[in-house]
Amino acid sequence: MSKFTVSKLAALKEKGEKFGTITAYDATFAKLFDECGVPALLIGDSLGMVVQGHNSTVPVTIEEMVYHTKCVARGATTTSLIIADMPFCTYATPEMALKNAALLMQAGAGCVKFEGGEWLCDTVRLLTENGIPVCAHLGLTPQSFNVFGGYKIQGRTEDKAKYITDSTLALEEAGAGMEVIECVPAQLAADISKKTRMPIIGIGAGNGTDGQILVMHDAFGFFGRPPKFARNFLKECGTGDVRDAVRLYLDEVRNGTFPSQAESFE
Ligand code: KIV
Repeated sequence: MSKFTVSKLAALKEKGEKFGTITAYDATFAKLFDECGVPALLIGDSLGMVVQGHNSTVPVTIEEMVYHTKCVARGATTTSLIIADMPFCTYATPEMALKNAALLMQAGAGCVKFEGGEWLCDTVRLLTENGIPVCAHLGLTPQSFNVFGGYKIQGRTEDKAKYITDSTLALEEAGAGMEVIECVPAQLAADISKKTRMPIIGIGAGNGTDGQILVMHDAFGFFGRPPKFARNFLKECGTGDVRDAVRLYLDEVRNGTFPSQAESFE
């Protein structure tokens, strides 16, 4: 199988095929996920919490993201598109974003992701003009938890839902190739997925999106009390083999049984 690209993921959306993706932070898990055929791996800045033990993603630096991107790129050599997160305040201006995104691409990423709405349109334009595919991230954007006053469901009021929808359409128009949408009502995420050509990848956003993403530690029950929207696929697969857990996750996303209504927000 050749490597997935942003346009191959868009082709899956066009065919109506749902796909699962997962985070990875090191070469061993990246290789294993790549061999299971996971279309995309995200080196999430969630590593600040699940790998480094911080209580938010804010302390993660660009040097640390470059290091983990290099590790994942050494493991995932055949199948998975590698998406790298741009950490807190490393994309405050388009020029700053270009400099830092280039470091992640040179470390082995095939796409970069950053959090925020319409204000990032110029950044998306500059990066894509320079050959850097962009994944947007809206809804609950964890780098802004200090502004939100905690990790809260987003898009529950009409004006907030409109902001997320309008921002998505503006970012797509500017050149974003896909978007992660986190912790929003399932109906809002489903409506947005219908309005875009780019794939929308949900986490805590119901099963009406084109793809799903899970933090690997949540998918295997490795990290404290799991969030409502996660499922322990390692337990569910019943064999204790991480590969079986990943294949089960991919199957359940493909056939629309993950996430269930109980694992979504209304
Ligand atoms: O950092 C991360 O792992 C993420 C996912 C939660 C989408 O951004």
